[in-house]
Amino acid sequence: MAFSKPLALILLTFLSLFASKIQAQAPAPAPSGPVNLTAILEKAGQYTTLIRLLKESQQLTQIESQLNSTTQGFTLFAPTDNAFQNLKSGAINDLTDDQKVKLILYHVTPKYYSLSDLQTVSNPVRTQASEKEGSWGLNFKGQGNQVNVTTGVVTTSINNDLRQQFPLAIYQVDRVLLPLELFGAKSPSSAPSPKSSETTPSDETPSSGKKGGAPSPAASQKDNGVAGRNVGLGLVLGLGFICMGALS
Ligand SMILES: *[C@@H]1O[C@H](CO)[C@@H](O)[C@H](O)[C@H]1NC(C)=O
Ligand SMILES: *[C@@H]1O[C@H](CO)[C@@H](O)[C@H](O)[C@H]1NC(C)=O
Ligand SMILES: *[C@@H]1O[C@H](CO)[C@@H](O)[C@H](O)[C@H]1NC(C)=O
Repeated sequence: MAFSKPLALILLTFLSLFASKIQAQAPAPAPSGPVNLTAILEKAGQYTTLIRLLKESQQLTQIESQLNSTTQGFTLFAPTDNAFQNLKSGAINDLTDDQKVKLILYHVTPKYYSLSDLQTVSNPVRTQASEKEGSWGLNFKGQGNQVNVTTGVVTTSINNDLRQQFPLAIYQVDRVLLPLELFGAKSPSSAPSPKSSETTPSDETPSSGKKGGAPSPAASQKDNGVAGRNVGLGLVLGLGFICMGALS
């Protein structure tokens, strides 16, 4: 009788210590390894232009490092290579470096949204490019299981997710999301406006001879070049791995 009480206490103490240890350990494995955005986009295979722009604007490393600590997560709307090729020639290259960064930031929201979140989210949705409330926002409209996004300049539907898991969602978009702030006032319609010769000359292609004729041969050739180089790089890497495999 005299022993049973302290014994029980000791037992209880051990048990509770043990339990608290289990509880303390349980949440530890929850933060999964760092998300490799490049790897996800590379694996999907049709995002070479986006990857290049993300790298050039330092956004790749920024997003990847922030993914580590974010409590809100991120959502990336990823335009395909086709989406970039379908832009008017010079649309991207005529932008300043700062504008290119803003364009990329416009495709990222500082919050994780699942597809069903996007169906009911209140517009406009803040992007990484937003400085003040309401500017550089995206607008979503859902119906059934379809979601459309509009910038005020372009509208496209979101139907394919490359990843939908906190802290990062990535959705394919078949058009580049051109922000109203960059592309709204300048070109109100797709019709080529009669430009006077005083407009700043584009720094790489002679824009004078183009009158809505050929669909941007320069841009698509350039992008094909990038794609070609990447295929080449992939082959070299692939051969390298085969050689390594053969040696080991
Ligand atoms: C992410 O993936 C890319 C391509 O697969 C690779 O080159 C890079 O080293 C990876 N980064 C990290 C931090 O693992
Ligand atoms: C991300 O967090 C892990 C541990 O949680 C750490 O080892 C790693 O260095 C961090 N990476 C970056 C890019 O901050
Ligand atoms: C999305 O856009 C497509 C084509 O632009 C249109 O047919 C469809 O009705 C739109 N859906 C919603 C939910 O607005």
